[in-house]
Amino acid sequence: MTEKIKEEFPVLQQDVYGKPLIYLDNAATTQKPISVLNAVDNYYRCLNSNVHRGVHRLSILATEAYEHARMSIQQFINAPNAHEIVFTRGTTESINLVANGFANTILKQNDEVIVSTMEHHSNIVPWQLAVEKCGAKLKVISINEIGEIDMECYQNLFSEKTKIVAVTHVSNVLGTINPIKKMIEIAHAHQVPILIDGAQGIKSTKVDVQDLDCDFYCFSGHKIYAPMGIGVLYGKEKYLEQLPPYQGGGEMIQNVSFEKTTFNSLPFKFEAGTPNVGGAIGLEAAIDFMLKIGRENLLTHDKALLDYAQTKMQEIDEIRFIGQAREKAAVVSFLLGTAHPADVGTLLDTMGIAVRTGHHCAEPLMNRYQISGTVRASFAIYNTKTEIDKLVEALKKTNRILS
Ligand code: ALA
Repeated sequence: MTEKIKEEFPVLQQDVYGKPLIYLDNAATTQKPISVLNAVDNYYRCLNSNVHRGVHRLSILATEAYEHARMSIQQFINAPNAHEIVFTRGTTESINLVANGFANTILKQNDEVIVSTMEHHSNIVPWQLAVEKCGAKLKVISINEIGEIDMECYQNLFSEKTKIVAVTHVSNVLGTINPIKKMIEIAHAHQVPILIDGAQGIKSTKVDVQDLDCDFYCFSGHKIYAPMGIGVLYGKEKYLEQLPPYQGGGEMIQNVSFEKTTFNSLPFKFEAGTPNVGGAIGLEAAIDFMLKIGRENLLTHDKALLDYAQTKMQEIDEIRFIGQAREKAAVVSFLLGTAHPADVGTLLDTMGIAVRTGHHCAEPLMNRYQISGTVRASFAIYNTKTEIDKLVEALKKTNRILS
């Protein structure tokens, strides 16, 4: 099945330095199937027009397509209402929107925001900016050696000053799938709302925001086969109503005068300016692509590749895995002896294998392990066990070259 699916991805049909490309950097971004490329192409060829603004035919069609995409996303994550789906540029903007809103309305001096040690910078820095603005503080959940959240530490961090928890669903470095359902229950037992950074979780789990009962869930299209520059903030209506607009401009207003401006209803209050209509349509096509394969099949494929990679890679001398949680997504971070991750990545590149190296935008996590970075291989639906075999062979060769 995978070879057939791979044929749907034009970018994967190329050689790199004369070797067939093996793309294992899917936690950074996934490649795009032809159906997504066609959907975006068709939008710009046949429909391109500004939305919610025109009485002319193209504008009506573009508006319908844009709002249809919103409804597909609503169904995909089982959100109760389409107006709880806000289009953003991606996870980063979604988190900034919420953090900025909290800083402007809810957070006060000495209040506390809980994050974890394994957060991506995107779920640390916006909160740092928010707490600095208000004289509030960040509290950090520790993790254990294998890369799991310390749940006792988490529970102990709550106080009457806690105003929000912001945690990742799945670590982009360790692959850990966090027990977010339990974490959400705990936050709610303290009457504290919780934001889930779903940048990796949206691909690695079947997200149902009603079942999870999270207050906010953020993700990017480009990590699930959609174009870059389109993302989603799901928020419960009661919180989205409470938060102020993130940006001012067209579309987000009801009436403007120099004395007073009133704001548009949800979700438009948060969608200032011309939105990424083509991106939203591309994201809908990506969702259709995933649904056609079947979400269970996608997850089974990920799990099979992860298990295979983790077993097979043990053959490699001096490999040290970073992140061995019991619940893991298809992400393998590792070090080869004392080799610098960038050297390993560069050598793999010459063999046609694309991996990510470095701190993965998670410097506090690197500090926790007292390392400067890792090499990371992350898998998607078009990857195969044969590619993992080639990765293992390439890593053995790398070891020989570097030793
Ligand atoms: N957040 C993306 C990654 O982990 C870019 O690689």
